[in-house]
Amino acid sequence: MAPMPRGGTVAVTGSAGFIGGWVVRQLLDKGYRVRACVRDANDESKTTFLKAMPGYASGRLTLHSADLDEAGCFDEIFKGCQGVAHLSHVSTYDDLDYVKMVCDHVINSVNLSESVNRVIVTSSIAAVISEQDIQELVRRPVLYEDRYPDELNPKRLPERGQGYSMGKVLAERAFAEAAEASGRWDAITCCPGDNVGPIQSTHQKNFGPWQHNIETMLLGKYTQNVIGAYRPWFTVDVRDVAEAHIRMLESVNVENGQRFIAWSTETRNVEDICASIDRLLPELGFAGAELIDPFPEKVRAKEAKFRAIWGGCELRNDRIREALGMEFRTLDVSIRDCVESLIAVAKVEPVRRPGY
Ligand SMILES: NC(=O)c1ccc[n+]([C@@H]2O[C@H](COP(=O)([O-])OP(=O)(O)OC[C@H]3O[C@@H](n4cnc5c(N)ncnc54)[C@H](OP(=O)(O)O)[C@@H]3O)[C@@H](O)[C@H]2O)c1
Repeated sequence: MAPMPRGGTVAVTGSAGFIGGWVVRQLLDKGYRVRACVRDANDESKTTFLKAMPGYASGRLTLHSADLDEAGCFDEIFKGCQGVAHLSHVSTYDDLDYVKMVCDHVINSVNLSESVNRVIVTSSIAAVISEQDIQELVRRPVLYEDRYPDELNPKRLPERGQGYSMGKVLAERAFAEAAEASGRWDAITCCPGDNVGPIQSTHQKNFGPWQHNIETMLLGKYTQNVIGAYRPWFTVDVRDVAEAHIRMLESVNVENGQRFIAWSTETRNVEDICASIDRLLPELGFAGAELIDPFPEKVRAKEAKFRAIWGGCELRNDRIREALGMEFRTLDVSIRDCVESLIAVAKVEPVRRPGY
């Protein structure tokens, strides 16, 4: 199917979000017209940063209220768009019938538009690596696009915490199948790693979880990674994920149903992320933070084993680099810019050593 025409119109769901906000900004910077979809365009706490973008003043950026729980909510918004970047979360990942229903809401609006050529579906590395049995990572340690979690494991269930990864896989397939059936548009999937980088609006510090975890470090306490016990952060800069979305909209080298992992392949343990802050920004006088380990004793007893399994994983990003020409920022840059934005944008006051 045809890629986005340059300067065309793109609808972005989840525009008030951490990643969506950067997709909006970069699309505008590249000359596109953007329809930013948020749940409530009048919610100043979430939309002021979008309305401050220069494209809003001219009308090249418009804001639209849409709750994807409501059928037809994107019908009018998508009409005339050539691209859709579907970044929004859904209300719950624990009910897969609901996830399928809201996918259909977006798909029906794409079909109705008769103008959309390409949809980027934002999935997650959870849809690549989230295993019910961690030994599966020992059996298949190469983390790349053709890898899916072991879907035959009978314990892989939403009620056992797999709803997010299952919902993301479901969405990837629902969009690819609908695109194939339509013959008019294609669906390309982006699977981002753990996003670190600058927030653009105060409310974004509360989500993440990665930028929120850096906020709690600055405040003096933070938690061990609970999304994968003792897993290092598998990071990517939020600005690089936004760029990847735009390259996927523009590319002539992608095909319906393809997925691309967006991560730098750099990994770092959460305690080392915290230690990085003082190394990168000694001017802050950051006092450091206490690590909270919320795991029960039986999990803690296996800490060394978990760390060894994660350490044996091989993160790959060959496909996105080759097909889309992506280069990735280093994690140090992402941490530095995240910290500075938390202080400058969200007015977070770090704990400091005496004298600072
Ligand atoms: N952050 C990461 O590290 C990461 C990693 C892998 C994958 N992802 C995926 O990337 C996407 C964006 O993540 P993010 O970190 O930018 O998330 P975020 O900051 O929490 O933003 C997500 C947005 O989803 C919107 N949303 C939630 N429920 C909605 C609904 N029922 N109808 C319409 N909009 C709804 C919210 O809109 P309002 O603010 O307007 O209410 C919110 O701004 C998600 O699909 C996520 O699964 C993120």
